[in-house]
Amino acid sequence: MTSLDLAPAPDSGTAEGAVEAASDRVLEIRDLHVVPIADPTREILAGIDLTIRKGEVHAIMGRNGSGKTTLAYALMGHPAYRVTQGEVLWKGIDVLKLSPDKRARMGLFLAFQYPTAIPGLSVASFLRTALNARRRPVYGGDSTIDPSDATRGGISMRDFRVLMREKMALLKLDDAFAARYVNEGFSGGEKKRLEMLQMAVLGPEFAILDETDSGLDIDALRIVAEGVNAQLNPDLGVLLITHYQRLLNYITPDVVHVLAKGRMIKSGGRELALQLEEEGYAPVLREAGLEIDFQDEAPEPAEAVE
Ligand SMILES: Nc1ncnc2c1ncn2[C@@H]1O[C@H](COP(=O)(O)OP(=O)(O)O)[C@@H](O)[C@H]1O
Ligand SMILES: [Mg+2]
Repeated sequence: MTSLDLAPAPDSGTAEGAVEAASDRVLEIRDLHVVPIADPTREILAGIDLTIRKGEVHAIMGRNGSGKTTLAYALMGHPAYRVTQGEVLWKGIDVLKLSPDKRARMGLFLAFQYPTAIPGLSVASFLRTALNARRRPVYGGDSTIDPSDATRGGISMRDFRVLMREKMALLKLDDAFAARYVNEGFSGGEKKRLEMLQMAVLGPEFAILDETDSGLDIDALRIVAEGVNAQLNPDLGVLLITHYQRLLNYITPDVVHVLAKGRMIKSGGRELALQLEEEGYAPVLREAGLEIDFQDEAPEPAEAVE
């Protein structure tokens, strides 16, 4: 057992308890620096500070290559990236010290920009296994839980079916979807809807959605956005990563941040996203004293589908 398996020393006393409860509701990123393992001399994130409370939706926008996915991966503990400086506090714990699996059990969730196919594994089996893993306690007690055994902490088949049916209805998915192999032969829209279904089944407290809009035509975009909106609640914080502002026509962010060259160069309200759509990234980059290239000058195409 390493020190990571230990809960932080509890400070007893009601006043401390109250402070902890407040910190339970916020994800705080402090001075985060990240390099890829493949090229450790290259700093992709160069000091990110961000505070997101439960019940809030923050959008991160930035042109391709600005570091958006790296931020998502670093928050979840992707092995291809190393955090060289900074901390990420969630429920009073620096989650950077935890395995990705423990982060998920602490209620963090990432919807991938490019979900992978798992031939031979059905959507239903995948989600049931994921849910049982998510429900294992973060600290200790793992050996008493057997996810395949409903009497030892796993969800019963019956309860799982009820849950699946409810969540699939929420996302307007038909029954056949559950029997298909994970992402195998899925359209772009189906892949994104599976990410949203996974989120709905796992019930995270903090969700990072990485370009949930990419590869979607306008109908699929609307369905995915409705799926996200249906899941918004006061006990869920959302970090919504997007290149285009069109997703924000359907999901209203509380705050919009612009990421460039590994730093947040500007934050504002919804109007900032509209300004980016109208003017491209050039004005905000210029304002931040950064170089502009051709891709920043042109406003984003309104209906780009990969
Ligand atoms: N694993 C990696 N190894 C080397 N370079 C990487 C790696 N991941 C990302 N990068 C580089 O870091 C920059 C940011 O990438 P990414 O975070 O994917 O940007 P975005 O999601 O905003 O498009 C890009 O220039 C990309 O090539
Ligand atoms: Mg990306």
